[in-house]
Amino acid sequence: MELMRCLFLHRSIHCKLCLFSILVFCQTGLSFGQIHPCESPTPSIINIDSDTDRDTAACDIDTNTVSSKTAPEEKVKMSSSLAIVPYDESSLPLFHKPVREFHIGRQKIVVKQNWKELGVAAVVWDAAAVLCEYLDQNQHLVDGRTIIELGAGSGIVGIIAAYLGGRVTITEREVAMGYLNSVVHDNIDVDKYNVSVTTLDWTSDLTEFPKPFQVILGADVIYIEETFDDLVKTFRHLSDEKTVIFISCKVRYERDSKFLEMMQKYFELKKVFNDKSRGILIYKAVKR
Ligand SMILES: C[S@@+](CC[C@H](N)C(=O)[O-])C[C@H]1O[C@@H](n2cnc3c(N)ncnc32)[C@H](O)[C@@H]1O
Repeated sequence: MELMRCLFLHRSIHCKLCLFSILVFCQTGLSFGQIHPCESPTPSIINIDSDTDRDTAACDIDTNTVSSKTAPEEKVKMSSSLAIVPYDESSLPLFHKPVREFHIGRQKIVVKQNWKELGVAAVVWDAAAVLCEYLDQNQHLVDGRTIIELGAGSGIVGIIAAYLGGRVTITEREVAMGYLNSVVHDNIDVDKYNVSVTTLDWTSDLTEFPKPFQVILGADVIYIEETFDDLVKTFRHLSDEKTVIFISCKVRYERDSKFLEMMQKYFELKKVFNDKSRGILIYKAVKR
């Protein structure tokens, strides 16, 4: 109220504008929030051969209005671990949609999103949509294989891999498991398809975690530099020399390229797909 009064009483237009901006920020929180801290594009410093370049998106998206049903106790923990950086305005509308619908091959996937309260794990990133489409167009990569998805968020990549015949384990951090479970159970019959959901935190001791998998999938998992060592460790643990890893990502900052360089110590890395319209690259990695 005090701020409102100042706004109307103050003589200087400039000050009025400043006060008005502060007021809007306080009221809506629209300028800042928890976000994936990787939205300004920078060129990759890695030079890797491209198998496929594509300009168009095959994934239809639209919305309706159904609210999310995630447990509130998870929200606090999740929010506290996320960075505060400015929103990328261009991606804001998609993250704010409470429900998104994806048509991938013959499958329709409906995902309830909860960006405002749960952040990065509770929205579908373009990297996931592009990886779904890539797998759908290359079913042989997953059909009949043992597959694990890391940092699954909504889990749509793992869901599509299971529909395509994979034996899939979809994984996430403990804090996001409630959300992941609800999306998976809303979209695939877990008794009919070979799909399960389990906790896998890259920072944890993986000694007892089953391995190896024939395929490892990761969509937009390269985004916090502090996790890079653990993520590389996780890829190494879960793989053997026959494992094929697909990492779908937007190379936004130099640090993302740093992750790919770290991977190259242990894996042969090759760019296999480029969706130019959404700025998404898919890398394939195989143990050296
Ligand atoms: C940008 S989101 C991508 C989500 C989803 N793969 C997609 O593309 O829509 C990154 C995901 O990595 C998960 N993540 C971050 N740190 C993790 C960790 N230490 N262990 C497991 N998952 C982690 C987050 O919870 C989040 O779901």
